[in-house]
Amino acid sequence: MLSKQRDYFNRRAAEWSDDLSAAQAESLEEIMTVLSPETGEKILDLGCGAGILTERLTRGMTGEERKLVSVDLAEEMVKRVRRDYSRLSSAVCGAAEELPLAARSFDRIICFSVFPHFSSPRSVLEEINRLLVPGGRAVIAHVDSRQQLNQFHSNLKGVVSADILPPLEELQEIIQAAGLRVLQMDERENLYLAVFGK
Ligand SMILES: C[S@@+](CC[C@H](N)C(=O)[O-])C[C@H]1O[C@@H](n2cnc3c(N)ncnc32)[C@H](O)[C@@H]1O
Repeated sequence: MLSKQRDYFNRRAAEWSDDLSAAQAESLEEIMTVLSPETGEKILDLGCGAGILTERLTRGMTGEERKLVSVDLAEEMVKRVRRDYSRLSSAVCGAAEELPLAARSFDRIICFSVFPHFSSPRSVLEEINRLLVPGGRAVIAHVDSRQQLNQFHSNLKGVVSADILPPLEELQEIIQAAGLRVLQMDERENLYLAVFGK
């Protein structure tokens, strides 16, 4: 399953666009506010793709600090992030279900536009628990509602057509089962959001 996902996203990496509508860009700013990364904190951009969020997270960062790690399953996506943001972000190729990263090493973790693609959401949430420092915060976010995104995926051909976002109540159960604490959940047009902590 992971290799099919990897092949699918590798094939799309060259043409992957980072365009957001005005409403989606507004939601992204709201997501940044709840993530509230502070100077010096270490942030993990999990499922970074070609770097839409990496770009937003590195805005205003100076060249001296390298506090951002961007991870993606597809090496062609990782190559794009390395090409465009290597000065500010370390890009790593890996699966979110089993990350080659040290325990308790991140203050903030964000899964932006990636959650439905995880083969084992429970394993990913357990990894997030392992990687967060005590008091750390994580976010699962989309700039579409569940209905918008699930419709979009079901219209696509190929391996992602069955990748769906769960109702927030179901997501809450998975987060809690992984030993994490839900802090905020919200869903409306152009937003699906869960904020949780350790
Ligand atoms: C829809 S794209 C979004 C990427 C990026 N966050 C953005 O907003 O542009 C989903 C990304 O998740 C990656 N991905 C899918 N399954 C993954 C997994 N199990 N672990 C890590 N990355 C994964 C894909 O390779 C793809 O680059």
